[in-house]
Amino acid sequence: MDRIVLIGMMGAGKTTIGKELARRSGMRFVDCDHEIEARTGVKIPTIFEIEGEEGFRRRESQVIDELTSCDGLVIATGGGAVLDPGNRALLAERAVVIYLNVPPQVLWERTRHDRNRPLLQVPNPRERIFALHRQRDPLYREVAHIIVDGGRGNPGAMVRQIQKALE
Ligand code: S3P
Repeated sequence: MDRIVLIGMMGAGKTTIGKELARRSGMRFVDCDHEIEARTGVKIPTIFEIEGEEGFRRRESQVIDELTSCDGLVIATGGGAVLDPGNRALLAERAVVIYLNVPPQVLWERTRHDRNRPLLQVPNPRERIFALHRQRDPLYREVAHIIVDGGRGNPGAMVRQIQKALE
């Protein structure tokens, strides 16, 4: 299948790995969040502010449906893309789905100074990351065709691991 989707938590490296994977595979890289921002002309936190998480998820589902209908793409999804059962079905059917599995402590270290992720603007963001990981890890595993363990290794090693699994 000529379509690859990366799933995983915020801070898992979907954008970094996706760009490198696309470059090495001669495919085009697209990021769902960037696509939503390009279409609306505003940043993700503004969408959450105006439309709430529900509004954002509707836009996210629309973009996932459209992008997974195009060939030759490496697609990075937002961390919450797997929450919707409809998205999970589309992803699993239409693409090779790769779960970037990164320990929550590493996710926390990578995202702790981030102000662009509305779900982490809470009094205890570390606890939030761990809770989201607990909730979502089974969903990522349900959808994934390939699971890649990462976090400490360099992005190049992860990309090589993915390419090997895709052979
Ligand atoms: C979200 C992850 C974000 C973005 C939004 C919600 C989530 O994407 O879609 O802030 O629910 O985990 P990244 O995983 O690219 O940070």
